[in-house]
Amino acid sequence: MIGLQGFPRERTWLLPALHAVQHEKRWISPEDLTAVSEHLRVPLSEVYGVATHYPEFRLGQPGRRVARVCVGVSCRILGSLELLAALERRLGVTAPGTSADGGWTLEPFDCAFNCSMAPVAEVDGRHLGRLGPDDADRVLGAPAPPARTPEAAEAARAALAVIAVPTPMPSPIPEGDAGPGLGQAADPGRWFAASQRLARALSSPGELRLAVGVGSCGLSVGAAVTLAALAAEVGRRGIRARVVAAGCPGLCWAAPTVTVLRPEGAVETAARVGPGEVGALLDAVAAGRRVQPADVTAYLAGQRRVLTDRCGLTDPGDMADAIHRGSYATFAAALASGDPVAVIEAVKSAKLQGRGGAYFPAAVKWEGARRAAGEPKYLIVNGEEGEPGIFKDRHLLEGDPHRLLEGALLAAYAAGASRIYLYIHGEAELAARRMERALDAARRWGLVSQHVLGSDFSVEVEIRRGAGGFVLGEETALMESLEGRRAMPRAKPPFPVEAGLWGRPTVINNVETLFAVPLIVARGAAWWTGLGGGHGMKCFGLSGHLRRPGFVELPLGATLRDLLEGLGGGPAVGHTLQAVLVGGPSGSLVPPRLLDEPLVPGGTVNPGTGGVTALDDRASLRDVVRTLLDFNTRESCGKCTPCREGTARLRDLLDGRSNGGPSSAGREVTELADVVRLASLCGLGQAAPLSILSGFREFPSAFIDLSLKG
Ligand SMILES: Cc1cc2nc3c(=O)[nH]c(=O)nc-3n(C[C@H](O)[C@H](O)[C@H](O)COP(=O)(O)O)c2cc1C
Ligand code: SF4
Ligand code: FES
Repeated sequence: MIGLQGFPRERTWLLPALHAVQHEKRWISPEDLTAVSEHLRVPLSEVYGVATHYPEFRLGQPGRRVARVCVGVSCRILGSLELLAALERRLGVTAPGTSADGGWTLEPFDCAFNCSMAPVAEVDGRHLGRLGPDDADRVLGAPAPPARTPEAAEAARAALAVIAVPTPMPSPIPEGDAGPGLGQAADPGRWFAASQRLARALSSPGELRLAVGVGSCGLSVGAAVTLAALAAEVGRRGIRARVVAAGCPGLCWAAPTVTVLRPEGAVETAARVGPGEVGALLDAVAAGRRVQPADVTAYLAGQRRVLTDRCGLTDPGDMADAIHRGSYATFAAALASGDPVAVIEAVKSAKLQGRGGAYFPAAVKWEGARRAAGEPKYLIVNGEEGEPGIFKDRHLLEGDPHRLLEGALLAAYAAGASRIYLYIHGEAELAARRMERALDAARRWGLVSQHVLGSDFSVEVEIRRGAGGFVLGEETALMESLEGRRAMPRAKPPFPVEAGLWGRPTVINNVETLFAVPLIVARGAAWWTGLGGGHGMKCFGLSGHLRRPGFVELPLGATLRDLLEGLGGGPAVGHTLQAVLVGGPSGSLVPPRLLDEPLVPGGTVNPGTGGVTALDDRASLRDVVRTLLDFNTRESCGKCTPCREGTARLRDLLDGRSNGGPSSAGREVTELADVVRLASLCGLGQAAPLSILSGFREFPSAFIDLSLKG
C-alpha cells in the first residue's frame, strides 16, 4: 500500500496524499480513496468530493501510456485539433478514450502552459512542442518512461534533479553548526560578508559559461539532448567551461538556445542549437566569433529586462551563483536594520501593484496582515497559474527561483508572517523541482529557520502542489485547497488579511509581484516609479500566430504593437493580424485599431495577467470565443447560480440554441452576460462573458447569424 503513514493525520494533507497515491499508481482507485479517508480521518464522501473536484486527479485506470493533446486557443489555431484527429484515427479511439488493447489513453486538455511552443502534446508527462498536424508518429514514437519500480522512479527524479541542479551547494555555515543561536545578537551583516566570499570562490569568476535554456519550453524541443551533447563535447575537447542548465531566456521561438557568458563579461545567445550544432558553436566560441544571430539581438534589445535579467543566465540550482548575482543581500540588509515596517514603506512608496491580474497594492495587504490580530500569520505565494494562455510565472519559477524566495522572505518579514506556502501548479514539475532545490539551499545557508541569521524573525517555508482547475488560482479557493477542501471561493469580506488560511491573517501574492520586491527594496521606490509611467515592469507570454512567440518583459504602458510586431515579429508572411486575445479565458478580443493603446491597469486595454495571443486572418474568432466560454463553463466551481448556469447558457446561445430563435439570441446574450458579470461571486464568473461581449462589439461579422439588435 502507498506510504500514507508519512502524512500527519490532518485534513490539510488531503491533496498531498492523493498526489502521492496517483504518483505511485498513476491513478486513484476506490480502495485508495478509502485508505486516504481512514488515514486522514476525513469522511469518505468528502475525500471523494475533493478527488473528483480537481481535474488532475485520475479516478479511472489509464492505458499503459497516456498522450494528451492541448486544444487551448494557441494550440488549436496552429493545428492541434487536426493532430488529435490523426491520433484518434491511428489508435481507433475517440478522445478521451483508451485503445482496445489498453496500450494508449488519448485525451484533449485545455493548456500545457507552454503556449509559446504550440501546438503541444504531452506523452507520459513529457511535453512535445512545435508539433504539426502530421506529427502523430512523433507522439506515438516518444520513448516510453522506465518501468514504474521505486528504483526507476528515484532515477527519474534524479534525472530531473540533474537538470535542475548540476552543481554542489555547500553552506557558509560549518558542518554541524546550527547557525546563529537563540538570543544571539543579530548579525546578518557578517553572514552576508561570509556568504559573498564563499559565493565568489565557488562561482569561479572569470570562467567561460555555456548556459543552455532548459525551461519547459526548451525541453519540449530537445534542450536536454543539447545539454547532454554540449557537456560531452566540452569534456571531449577538454575546454575549461561550465555547462549550466539554466531557465529560458525568453527566446522560446529560438529554443534550444545556448547563452555564452565569456570570461571578460560579454554575453551572447545562440539560437536553435540541436546536438548537431554543438561542435560548430564551440568552434565559434573558441575563435571568438559572434554566435548571436541578428533576430535574437533585436528581440533582446527591444525589451527592458529587469525582473527577468537573470533568467537564462543564472544557474537555478546553484546558490553560490545566486548569491554572487546579488540574491539575499537585500533580505540580509533588511534583517540587519531590524525594521520590517521600512520594507512596507519602500514597497508602498513604489506603489507596487499585484501582478496576479487585479493590480491591488502589495504593501496595503502586508500592512493589513501586520496590524491584524491572530497568530500565526501566513504568506502564500500564488504560483498556481492555471489560466490557459498564461505562462509567465512558470518561466520566472524555472529561471530564477532564488529571486522569488528572497521576495517571499521579505514579504513575510514585512507582514509578520512566520509561515510561507509556495503553491505551485500540480503539473509544473520543473518549476517545483527547482523551487525545492532553491529552498533546500536557502535552509542550508541559514536563510529559512528559527531566528534567521540571529534576528528575531523566524520562518518556515513549505511547497504545496495544486491539482488543476482555473478557479484554484483564486485566492480564497486556493486557501480552501490548502485546508484540504474543494477549490471554491469564499465570500469576502472578511478579507484574507483579516481571516484567511485557517481563519488567520494571510497575505497572498503572485510570483511576479514578489519578483519585484527585492529590487524595489534594494534600489528604492523612485527607481520603480520611474519605470512604466509609475507602474513598473510587466512580464508577458506571447503566443499564437507570431513568428517569434516567447516570454518578454516591458515597462507597463507599452503597447500591443510593441509586443506583437516589435518583439513577436507579427504573423507569418502573407497573413494579417485579425485580433488579439489579451488575458486568456478572462480576457477580451482586442481589434487591431487598439494596437497603439498603452497597456495599463484600468486602461482601454488591460494587461491582465500578461497572456497575449495573436490571431491572424486564419483564426475563427467564433471558435476562439466558444473555446473560452466552454472552458469557463467547465471550470465554474458551481457555487453560485449566475456563473454555473449562465456561462453554460451563453455557450448554448452561441451554438444557436436560443428559446426565441436566432433573432433574439443576440439580445439574450448581452442581457445574460450582464447578469453573469455582475452577480457572480468571484472573478471567474465576473470575467467569463468578456470574450463574447468583446467579440460581439468588435467583430460583429463573426456572429452575424445572432442578431445583435434582437
Ligand atoms: C479564477 C481566478 C483565477 C486566478 N488565478 C490566479 C493565478 O493563477 N495566479 C495568481 O497569482 N493569481 C490568480 N488569481 C488572482 C488571485 O485571486 C489574487 O488576486 C492574487 O493571487 C493576489 O496576488 P497579487 O496581489 O500579487 O496579484 C486568480 C483569480 C481568479 C478570480
Ligand atoms: S463565480 Fe463561478 S467559479 Fe466563482 S464562485 Fe461562483 S460558481 Fe464558483
Ligand atoms: S499550451 Fe496549448 S494553449 Fe497553452
